[in-house]
Amino acid sequence: FAGAPLLRTEFALDDGHGGIGSAVLHATAHGVFQAYLNGALVGDDVLSPGWSSYEWRLRYRTYDVAELLITDPSSPVVLGFAVGNGWFRGRLGWSGGRGFYGDELGVLAQLEITYADGHVQRIVTDTAWTAGPSEVTANDLYDGQDVDARLGSDAWLRPGFGGDGWVGVHPGERDLATLAPYVSPPVRRVDERAPERIWTSPSGKTLVDFGQNLVGWVRFSVQGPAGSVITLRHAEVLEHEELGTRPLRSARATDRFTLSGGDDVFEPTFTFHGFRYLEVDGWPGELAADDLTAVVISTDVDRIGTFECSDELLNRLHSNVVWGARGNFVDVPTDCPQRDERLGWTGDLAAFAPTAVYLFDAQGFLRDWLLDLDVEQQHADGMVPFVVPDVLKYIDHPPEFPTPDSTAVWSDAAVWVTWAVYQAYGDVSVLADVFPAMAAHVRRVEGLRAPTGLWDTSFQFGDWLDPTAPPEEPFLAKADNGVVATACLFRSASLVAEAARLLGRDADAAHFADVAEQTRAAFVEHYLHEDGTIHSDAPTVYALAVVFGLLDETSTARAGDRLAALVAEGGYHIQTGFAGTPFVTDALTLTGHLDDAYQLLLQTECPSWLYPVTMDATTIWERWDSMLPDGTINSGEMTSFNHYALGAVADWMHRTIGGIAPAEPGYRTVRVAPRPGGGIGWAKASLQTPYGQVAVSWTDGPDGLELDVEVPDGVTALIDLPDQPVRELTAGSHRLEPATAR
Ligand code: BGC
Repeated sequence: FAGAPLLRTEFALDDGHGGIGSAVLHATAHGVFQAYLNGALVGDDVLSPGWSSYEWRLRYRTYDVAELLITDPSSPVVLGFAVGNGWFRGRLGWSGGRGFYGDELGVLAQLEITYADGHVQRIVTDTAWTAGPSEVTANDLYDGQDVDARLGSDAWLRPGFGGDGWVGVHPGERDLATLAPYVSPPVRRVDERAPERIWTSPSGKTLVDFGQNLVGWVRFSVQGPAGSVITLRHAEVLEHEELGTRPLRSARATDRFTLSGGDDVFEPTFTFHGFRYLEVDGWPGELAADDLTAVVISTDVDRIGTFECSDELLNRLHSNVVWGARGNFVDVPTDCPQRDERLGWTGDLAAFAPTAVYLFDAQGFLRDWLLDLDVEQQHADGMVPFVVPDVLKYIDHPPEFPTPDSTAVWSDAAVWVTWAVYQAYGDVSVLADVFPAMAAHVRRVEGLRAPTGLWDTSFQFGDWLDPTAPPEEPFLAKADNGVVATACLFRSASLVAEAARLLGRDADAAHFADVAEQTRAAFVEHYLHEDGTIHSDAPTVYALAVVFGLLDETSTARAGDRLAALVAEGGYHIQTGFAGTPFVTDALTLTGHLDDAYQLLLQTECPSWLYPVTMDATTIWERWDSMLPDGTINSGEMTSFNHYALGAVADWMHRTIGGIAPAEPGYRTVRVAPRPGGGIGWAKASLQTPYGQVAVSWTDGPDGLELDVEVPDGVTALIDLPDQPVRELTAGSHRLEPATAR
């Protein structure tokens, strides 16, 4: 079937065993599925079973379906599935290829009904099932979905359905040992937005603005002539007052709905789009705001961390970071959710993980992904691939595409993401689970070092998207790749040593501490010059050296001073890419240059964090200048308007403006260390820790700092204020008046 096939079976409930005690449905698919039982949709998840490293790990959902079986016991029951192409058979990557995991869709399901007397009835997918066409005539995550309501009918979900055009099924290939439960919450509908504006473009198109760059689809009800077609095209931005689709590259992001002539409800659930704007063609009559609803989908991670302050631009920046995480957490933590890419780029998450784990309870989500990272790496000789799940290994790349090997920041995700999860939630089992992957990563990089001990030998993305790199050459950074990579190796080896120590793996701890020390020594010998500058003399190299702790006290202070001088020379415009950006404000703060950190953060001219905010951005952009000041789109191939990596500065905002940081993993001890500055008059932050809510709020008035702190039971807060000894507070609500707070 060209579109999304339907699969069904019909059965009678077993007789003579009393009522139904419990009923669960386990289900998974090659493709993405929606299950129906007794005429009703099962579950509120969408796009299940998501995208995992299918070769070795296919997750299944388990649903409690007892309520759906409260029925006339003598009537047959129908179990059915609709199956979309999803990640399994749909397009993936920019090559135009599809079907990387297989060209046949399939469902694997088991319904277990337990009766009052303990009898269990099992309905399983087998060759007695039949398959037929649906009203979904085309579907692809990138390209969109076509629905022909004239073909729609729920007769297939009712007993006794004969079905024209329905055929038999045959068993598919799947090693049952690869089935795994979800560790992550599934993807669900998490929000809705109404249009903010509907208007006609200069070329006569009907355009809709939802006011927020979001990820999901548009749902609507409509009545119009049978056979007429409504077309929805999605885009993140406008350009020259029309829909700006060039950044989507080859992703068509177009849904088409053919009307039945009756009352139709459309909701395309086998695709998703990253969009703020919509172009609507073929709407019968005048389109009104309440005709359309944008449905936001995301992995259903709970929001746990908040931040707010007196600066409205910073609040918008923060909101953009939150939306960036929401939109790129659609089962896999992706680089972007809109163009022909949407891949689990490891470096983007390595940069963003510390921010993500504060904003959301992302533990299950990230641990699920780390299982894929681990299994991919096991099949790649210790190499953490560029993307997880690694679909790039199936794509023939042009010769200029780098031969994949371990790459600083990107492959460091094995260590850095795991560490961020451990720090935020305090569960040491994540270190135990991922330790083999963390260790294998560092061991592989040990073998990539040059005889000097530096990691300057292999391909690097480096300080990717340094703002001075030309649009078509995003890898041309000011920071030397060897400096960046060697610094990253030092950080990873140090963290793996620490993880080994926590896990009682003494030999490993000694080994990785040794690697870290060798790497530090090589860094200092070859990259640190007599005058205190670091090879390539770019802000990123100082940021990494300071924050990762590569230098002694004197050299750290000099590196901080040099960084501050470079930042000032650059007019407080951002000068860092993916590698340096998450660390530059911390490096300034740690070395006594807090004011410079604030000036850098509060800059509104391009390039800066706030420039996009002044350009009406509602998400974090891939490039500092994805949209140019004149409103045209950057000419580069990569101009996503929803890329979370550069939003990693929110982690600094949470700790340094908000004042909440873990002093112990999981916030058993919380460090409350706000550092007011930048003219910010007040700030508030709160976090739902594993022990309860921590909340900090401060006002910087004429008399000094007034601080309110809420500490949950079992938690100790270390109050660390400028020029004051650190104080301990235990559970309760505390107010520190200006006299004591300053
Ligand atoms: C992605 C990035 C990714 C990068 C790697 C891009 O195409 O969108 O975010 O990390 O490639 O170089």
